[in-house]
Amino acid sequence: MAGDTPAGAGLASIIQFEHRPGILDLGWGHPLPALLPVDGWARAVAAASRDFGWQALTYGRSAGPGPLVDWLAEHLSRLEAGGTTPRQTFVTAGASHALSLVTGLLTKPGDTVLVDSPTYHLVFPIFADHGVRLVSVPADDDGVDPVALAGLLGRLGRVRLLYLVPTFGNPTGRSLPAERRQALVRLAQRERVTVVEDDTYRELVYDGPAPPSLWRLAEGSGVVRIGTFSKTVAPGLRLGWINADPAVVRRLAGLGYVDSGGGVNHAAALAMASFATSGAYDEHVAKIRGEYRRQRDALTTAVPQAPVPAGGWFTWLRLPPGVRAADLLSRAERNGVSFVPGPRFHLDGNGSADRIRLSFSHLPPETLAVAGARLAETIAATEAHG
Ligand SMILES: Cc1ncc(COP(=O)(O)O)c(C=O)c1O
Repeated sequence: MAGDTPAGAGLASIIQFEHRPGILDLGWGHPLPALLPVDGWARAVAAASRDFGWQALTYGRSAGPGPLVDWLAEHLSRLEAGGTTPRQTFVTAGASHALSLVTGLLTKPGDTVLVDSPTYHLVFPIFADHGVRLVSVPADDDGVDPVALAGLLGRLGRVRLLYLVPTFGNPTGRSLPAERRQALVRLAQRERVTVVEDDTYRELVYDGPAPPSLWRLAEGSGVVRIGTFSKTVAPGLRLGWINADPAVVRRLAGLGYVDSGGGVNHAAALAMASFATSGAYDEHVAKIRGEYRRQRDALTTAVPQAPVPAGGWFTWLRLPPGVRAADLLSRAERNGVSFVPGPRFHLDGNGSADRIRLSFSHLPPETLAVAGARLAETIAATEAHG
């Protein structure tokens, strides 16, 4: 029977995980296994079979089955007072798939796409799949700088997309300030650049309300928002969504493989509709918010220099002067702890040489306390001895 601790050796043929004996790895942006709702999901699948019968197992509606699309539109409208409609909602196989679909639909090879800097590193290969030219946007500690971005847009000529994770970002855990959100939306609308807002972490908020989405500020015009159940429920479901103008949703639904396949993940989408409408979703998210908050606190208490993010799964640590992320990594691993060095989150590895990303999602609080203590000790020793 599967256990509830992080996967051991031998599971590599089943899951995406590399077990390294003796190392507490703060590199993985994966959920704590014990927080995956194994029993609740089994009940949702049984309920979907009971409630939808054969309809759960045949070809689905291209944009996603009505029960999930309707719930999502209501849920997203409840999260931020502001309407997201079913006609603006398309069900995907996760946020990665959403990003690939949007890029495929709105760009052609050779087009210019802007990315936040630093940004979620695994989007680089997704964009490479589509042959677009990536350019980093000017950013500072608060994220994208709209004034510098306006200058860049003037120099670059036609830009199709601007991708960013403005809320509880990966890797920084930070959120773009309110006035920059407004300025960015206005700039993108004026310059006719579609903003792709990766809103993966919105619901994992620990302190206060999450900031308004760009999607909401733009009232649906010129912003495509992508969301996912990977962090709130489970990544293995491969289930997420796109919010976009209804014309874009219609084009997505008309894509050859979407239409031919009857949606992209119909049975899981209907099981999610059951999970959501039964109240299990809200209950589960409330529970994991509390747990991830405890995990965040355990890590940031053990590494007091680490910022305490208000949401998401990551903290972005600035190293003391003279300590470089790449050098620290091998020392840290010899001391039984690992992380992802900052340059990994920049195009061509160019930037954040003095930063590291620490994830608090994958390990329980007691283990995070030990991992954090090992890291703090390694940083102090590196600083002392160079
Ligand atoms: C910002 C961001 N976007 C997208 C993803 C991938 O999400 P999904 O599992 O829904 O494809 C992640 C996962 O780490 C992420 O951090």
